[in-house]
Amino acid sequence: MRHLLGLQNMPAAELQMLLDTALAFREIVDRPVKKVPTLRGKAVITLFYENSTRTRTSFEMAAKIMSAEAINIAVGQSSVAKGESLKDTLQTLQALKADCVVIRHPMSGAAHFAANTLHVPVINAGDGRHEHPTQGLLDMLTIRQVKGDLAGTVVAIVGDITHSRVARSNIWGLTTMGATVRLVGPTTLMPNDAHHLPVTVHTNLAEGLEGADVVNVLRLQTERQESGLLPSLREYSRLFGINHTSLANAKPDVLVLHPGPMNRGVEISADVADGKYGVNCAVEEQISNGIAVRMAALYTLMGANLPPVVDA
Ligand code: NCD
Repeated sequence: MRHLLGLQNMPAAELQMLLDTALAFREIVDRPVKKVPTLRGKAVITLFYENSTRTRTSFEMAAKIMSAEAINIAVGQSSVAKGESLKDTLQTLQALKADCVVIRHPMSGAAHFAANTLHVPVINAGDGRHEHPTQGLLDMLTIRQVKGDLAGTVVAIVGDITHSRVARSNIWGLTTMGATVRLVGPTTLMPNDAHHLPVTVHTNLAEGLEGADVVNVLRLQTERQESGLLPSLREYSRLFGINHTSLANAKPDVLVLHPGPMNRGVEISADVADGKYGVNCAVEEQISNGIAVRMAALYTLMGANLPPVVDA
């Protein structure tokens, strides 16, 4: 593996290897002293052209736990603000001796462009509405932890599918591992190619949740939407909001996921988000698993010839 750009076309054996590696690293994240020397001397540069709390910080944590240097480019304070092109910015990072570049960009395909431009490994931290592979992997790791196996699991992805790179990475990763994926949401938020994807499509929430093992709730990506896709947020919430009542259609032990950031009261109720009434909502576990998945990605691309788990 030279880059991690997406989960589409990734063979099951590679997905399995990344998930197993993440699981091996997961325990280090909970140690009181979170430090192993695995990637000592390596430099990871994160280049984020879109906002991020979880993804950027967990890449930085992952690099630092493995003793790599983690350098974040704040795009607003960089020469990008002076008009520097993406290509020149990337080449600058390479000349600065980055050993790995982690990129988030609003343009679908930006990570592939970076991979074609650079000689160092590139990790896609979200490109437009295309893919967000480490989020897909951390969702899969969380499901595997709770449900034991991905094969045979029924996962309903609910909400703004068309603008969601999380949905696409989930679809490819989960179906390759033998899970059944349902897309649930209003027709206006379904991708045009939904019927060519390895999924079933549901425009009725109760029907889409019927017997689901996992509900992955998506944020309404208002920054990527044209106006007129939804009559109102209140109507969206009434028809597609995940709350205690709508969840009754899923399996009693349903696992609820959300990639964050959450719009409480829009796509997910505060009660469900906080795991009230016995709901198994794994939002915080997803975030912690995200560190382990990003450690696995960095290790696989930069240090796979080194021993994976070494005590501090
Ligand atoms: C997601 C993203 O940026 O694609 N967030 C994340 O990485 N945790 C989902 C979102 O922004 O809604």
